Amino acid sequence: MRPRASAREAEPAPPCTLVIFGVTGDLTRRLLMPALYNLSRWGLLQEGFSIIGVGRSAMTPDSLRAEFDTAIRGFVADRGGDLASQGVDEAAWRRVVGRLDYVQGDIGEAATFTEIGRRLDAGEVGANALFYLAVAAQLFGPIVRRIGEAGLAREQDGAFRRVIIEKPFGQDLASARSLNRDVLSVLREEQVFRIDHFLGKETVQNIMAFRFGNGFFEPMWNRDRIDHVQITVAETVGVERRGTFYDATGAMRDMVPNHLFQLFTLIAMEPPVSFGADAIRDRKEEVLAAVRPLDGEVAIRDAVRAQYTAGTVEGRAVRDYRAEPDVDPRSTTETFVAMKLAIDNWRWGGVPFYLRTGKSMRRRDTEIAIQFRQAPLALFREAGVDVQVPNWLVLQIQPDEGISLQFGAKVPGPRVKLDQVTMGFKYRDHFQVDPSTGYETLIYDAMIGDATLFQRADNIEGGWQVVQPVLDAWAALAAPMARYAAGSAGPREADA
Ligand code: BG6
Repeated sequence: MRPRASAREAEPAPPCTLVIFGVTGDLTRRLLMPALYNLSRWGLLQEGFSIIGVGRSAMTPDSLRAEFDTAIRGFVADRGGDLASQGVDEAAWRRVVGRLDYVQGDIGEAATFTEIGRRLDAGEVGANALFYLAVAAQLFGPIVRRIGEAGLAREQDGAFRRVIIEKPFGQDLASARSLNRDVLSVLREEQVFRIDHFLGKETVQNIMAFRFGNGFFEPMWNRDRIDHVQITVAETVGVERRGTFYDATGAMRDMVPNHLFQLFTLIAMEPPVSFGADAIRDRKEEVLAAVRPLDGEVAIRDAVRAQYTAGTVEGRAVRDYRAEPDVDPRSTTETFVAMKLAIDNWRWGGVPFYLRTGKSMRRRDTEIAIQFRQAPLALFREAGVDVQVPNWLVLQIQPDEGISLQFGAKVPGPRVKLDQVTMGFKYRDHFQVDPSTGYETLIYDAMIGDATLFQRADNIEGGWQVVQPVLDAWAALAAPMARYAAGSAGPREADA
């Protein structure tokens, strides 16, 4: 197996203090701590790295460390394989939690931020600070404002001050704009790192490498050769314990303007002039700006929403969405959405893009399937072959990561008969992929100031701009809510 070259070849991030708001939350324990541990194992965290956790509970650095200790042991054991058998690399783990501090305080109070500032000034690592907002979305604006008021966003003597903001970034176009305004009244755009964790996935990053690092598909990457594109993010999980959040959000807001549009823009964007953050983000923004607006009746025709009913997913009984904990029994929140988008530009004129995502579906599957135009079949007609074998390029994002091509091949025998065959590449056959959370690259990139994998203000608003008319039409025109049984492939209406 080949080594995990990319991480080993990278330079360690500059020393900094990571200030985590929401340090006692699920995200910190499940994803951030394991990601920091991996960065440390790969030699990418400097000795001077430190953490200041911020929370309301009465905790001490020691009790927090004990919680994280348990979490990291669980992470290592769960991943199995070499990682589990080697156990926790104690030296690497010490570099993560060796300098752990805790500020107990209410984020609504200025005193909390004064105290954070005092601890930052007292630290030995210089004044580089990365604030991570791992909190409920309604707190993003207020925390950034307090950071500004306490003077913590000021970059002095070459030190950086940066803020990582989790999703959801806004609930609709208006709230996203207003949050951007608030954030940018305190910070420069270069100080803001808006997370979309799909961009932390290697296979998502590979879309660009595949398209622009290889010459053979680019000449075919347009309306002359491509018939249509299907982007699917099917999940087997339901709403789990997130009923309150999910019922107020729904599949469209939760998945489409962010995760699905990352896949969509990476496939549809023009080649950037460089791999620089702004060059790439400019090209993505142009795709969203060229999407034909889905207004009124068009939205009702070209966007389908649905809710799951009781069923069985992977052998487990799933109740009706409306019977899930913390979900309104008369809820009209969609757990599935499918939509057809058109991009009005020269590359894609006339090529439909079908996007769909849903919860409690038959199997977990995130993939991009590109169907190429049919070959002229005259050659085979004489031989009595009229079966059309579509040519597909499939980028399998997760699970079972890989890329495959499907095409027709002659079935051996005296008759000319075509059958569909697959030529495939699987990541696991070629690369040794360390068990990771997907947050490693994102945290590291924020530390080195590379915003390529983060959303710029206009990317966020561009995404909302596309889905807002659909949300409005659904609300105003009482669009039908289709149903699909949990464990099925989604509603019939979506196929139509
Ligand atoms: C999150 C959504 O952003 O992404 C979840 O809020 C969803 O509802 C998740 O399940 C999917 O991410 P992943 O990495 O599990 O595919």
